Amino acid sequence: MPTVTYVSPSGIARKIDVPSGMSIMQAALNHRVEGIPGECGGNCMCATCHVYVDSPLLHRIPPAQNNEKSMLSIAAESPTTNSRLSCQIKMTEELDGIVIRIPAKQR
Ligand code: FES
Repeated sequence: MPTVTYVSPSGIARKIDVPSGMSIMQAALNHRVEGIPGECGGNCMCATCHVYVDSPLLHRIPPAQNNEKSMLSIAAESPTTNSRLSCQIKMTEELDGIVIRIPAKQR
């Protein structure tokens, strides 16, 4: 099963098996990863699942749609070029080993 490594704002890494098809946000909720509240339940309406994706695998994620870009613009912590909403990233075998960094604040 592919894995995702979630890195907390203080640098603590946690590697989790995530089934293909599940969003990175949902896997974080299922495993009680702190810092990704995902308040809208994955409907791209809250930006509380903002993450920074480590660049080596960023290009393998389909580009953000307009609604994701719009929500990122109101994220609590300033978005950067590797910012994504984790509810919009569906796990695939191609993303095995992806590392995402959790912002210090989501609200
Ligand atoms: S969970 Fe709300 S935008 Fe991702």
